[in-house]
Amino acid sequence: MTQSKHLPGAPHVHYEADQLMVEGVSLRALAKEHGTPLFVYSKASMLSALKSYQDGFVGRQARVHYAMKANSSLAILQLFAKHGCGFDIVSIGELERVKAIGADLGLVIFSGVGKTRAEIRQALQEGIFCFNVESVSELDVINEVALELSTKAAISVRVNPNVDAQTHPYISTGLKGNKFGVAHEDTLRLYQHAQTLQGIEIKGIDCHIGSQITQVGPYLDAMNKVLDLVDAIEDLGVSLSHIDFGGGLGIQYEGERPPSAQDMWAELFKVLDQRGYGERQIIVEPGRSLVGNAGVCISEVQYLKPGEQKNFCIIDAAMNDVPRPAMYEAFHEIVPLLAHQSSPMAVYDVVGPICESGDWLGRERSLNVQVGEHVAILSAGAYCMSMSSNYNTRGRAAEVLVDGNASHLIRRRENTQDLLQFERLLD
Ligand code: LLP
Repeated sequence: MTQSKHLPGAPHVHYEADQLMVEGVSLRALAKEHGTPLFVYSKASMLSALKSYQDGFVGRQARVHYAMKANSSLAILQLFAKHGCGFDIVSIGELERVKAIGADLGLVIFSGVGKTRAEIRQALQEGIFCFNVESVSELDVINEVALELSTKAAISVRVNPNVDAQTHPYISTGLKGNKFGVAHEDTLRLYQHAQTLQGIEIKGIDCHIGSQITQVGPYLDAMNKVLDLVDAIEDLGVSLSHIDFGGGLGIQYEGERPPSAQDMWAELFKVLDQRGYGERQIIVEPGRSLVGNAGVCISEVQYLKPGEQKNFCIIDAAMNDVPRPAMYEAFHEIVPLLAHQSSPMAVYDVVGPICESGDWLGRERSLNVQVGEHVAILSAGAYCMSMSSNYNTRGRAAEVLVDGNASHLIRRRENTQDLLQFERLLD
């Protein structure tokens, strides 16, 4: 019998004998077939993450709007649409993605602090579910555009509840110093103003306090503050048909123990029930928690470079493929595709080929690898491919979705021709 060893935080990534697998597919075989760097995702992992929300919502009026900024590859969007999700978007490009998969535009929420008039117009014409409004000036522009189109724009106001999400400052969004949302104390005035606007239909209220949140506490604080506001807004005679609690639930990168979505929502519904809001339409906008642990980025070891102070393991993936370490000093576990190799274990900084000292993927990692072998960067399903770039004229990686024993190429690798196609020489 072959031994199967699962990796923490990545239930569908495991060693079978000495080979790293995603579901029933060997990652070495995929590296051979498609080359590297290569993103590989587990369909089962995404669906089980979604099911955790859906199980938490049984018997409730609650819906998941997948925040596609985490990973907007079309096949992944198709999967979530097929399993009942709406979408949270932040640009018209993302709306075009919903159109490209033929999903219901009536289940699209448009978030973001800087929507342009053109984006607002197109979203209104396409009939999205609602805009999450982030400022009074944006509300006025949405009203103007709706009136130009002789229609009404459905809106909810994103409240900044001034809650500390206890996460990295770059991904904390619900504190006073952040650019996001309308200050708690200004919210009532904004709803009063919205009531006077002919082009606006008030639908709901929204908050999103940050990302990679690993405790329920900040959500409970934000929920209580939002519900206080709902009480006050409805006292004005405005009824809110939905309450949107945003996304933000964290995943395991390095031993974090976030609650499951189901357990967290059991706690949150207790508060909603106690306060008489358990029957309301609830919306959530998760991104990372649906896709983060489902993906790995596999990469070939190019060179091992021993140094006086440090050893470097130079791989063919870089900060343009997996930008989170360079951007946030984020930790991603790195493991070999072949366990129990004969080479000696050594401590390396795992780096890419880009000409920046910030181009690192992992620091001080114990690895036994050899040139020509492969490693997997784990928990790379969220905010990696979607934040990748062409820096150093590097084509973006390919992506593969694994479903049981089958694998599907869902995005081909970019070649140099792709990268040069938009550029023009001077005469
Ligand atoms: N809704 C809104 C309004 C958001 O701004 C975000 C994420 C989400 C939902 C989804 O949040 P999630 O469930 O994925 O935490 N690039 C960073 C994360 C940036 C998150 C931005 N907003 C990273 O790699 O950690």
